[in-house]
Amino acid sequence: MKRSTLAALSLAIATTLGAGLAAADPIVIKFAHVVAENTPKGLMADRFKELVAERLGDKVVVEVYPNSQLFGDDKVLEVMQLGDVQLAAPALSKFSRYTDVLALYDLPFLFEDLHAVDRFQQSEAGQGLLKSMEKKGLIGLGYLHNGMKQLSSSQPLRVPEDAKGLKFRIMASEVLEAQFEALDAAPIKKPFSEVFTLLQTKAIDGQENTWSNMYSKKFFEVQPYITESNHGLLDYLVVTSTEFWNGLPDDVRDTLKAALDESIAYGNRIAYDKEAEDRQAIIDSKRTEVIELTPEERAQWVQAMRPVWKQFEDEIGADLIDAAYAANQE
Ligand code: LMR
Repeated sequence: MKRSTLAALSLAIATTLGAGLAAADPIVIKFAHVVAENTPKGLMADRFKELVAERLGDKVVVEVYPNSQLFGDDKVLEVMQLGDVQLAAPALSKFSRYTDVLALYDLPFLFEDLHAVDRFQQSEAGQGLLKSMEKKGLIGLGYLHNGMKQLSSSQPLRVPEDAKGLKFRIMASEVLEAQFEALDAAPIKKPFSEVFTLLQTKAIDGQENTWSNMYSKKFFEVQPYITESNHGLLDYLVVTSTEFWNGLPDDVRDTLKAALDESIAYGNRIAYDKEAEDRQAIIDSKRTEVIELTPEERAQWVQAMRPVWKQFEDEIGADLIDAAYAANQE
């Protein structure tokens, strides 16, 4: 055999062996999130891990990192683009560096409840938003609920004037910033992992969040008042990098997508239950006073915050805002 033929043959054998070895290495999916495990997102992530182990155990391993263990939401999208994390589900409020349109979901008093949110998210317009960041290398794989936001504070908040001058922690969103500025309050952008300490040390006066987050992270223990305002939405986008997703073998991608859809549906059912359960657990704790607004008081909050819609109408699109608002009608 000629020397060159021999060399070509050894190269072919080495490549085949190499490919064989590589195929034996499972694909690792790191799923990083910031909330506790006993929340809609925490439970959804764990369910996804289980389903993937059952269905693709020899090919794919999911590692879940809760409680900001691996990355906070301020970093996770950046590192996803670099390939250090494959899956995350940040709040829809945390994508403003990548797209304008998802800011829609932050508009105060846009949705009456999670049922209306569902109707919009499943519509063509809602599904279209999942693709709004593909040019930036991120792809939305589905929406996951947490719930409607409430206002917690060191002082009772019944009418918008009560919030005047108070410092509120917000997620990194310009709409949320404008919402608190509309109340003459001071919004401060901080990562979720710092909120408890900021409240405990009284570095801030209040924050807005869901019953589930306030319960699982014990915010209610360091906030004497929670106003049941239901003024905004905290939902998530389950997101991955287009490079990672498109680089997967077709059969693996399809199985992963089905497992994700099932775990998202599971997480969404939990979100509905947790809104009621964690609210009740907070009331039962007697650590905080839950303030229920009269319809007249609520109308004042709507009136104070609603001008924010106009401020962001050009960026988000008036048609999109109309479509989302229309989802309140069954
Ligand atoms: C927050 O920062 O308040 C939330 O986005 C945390 C979360 O992921 O629910």
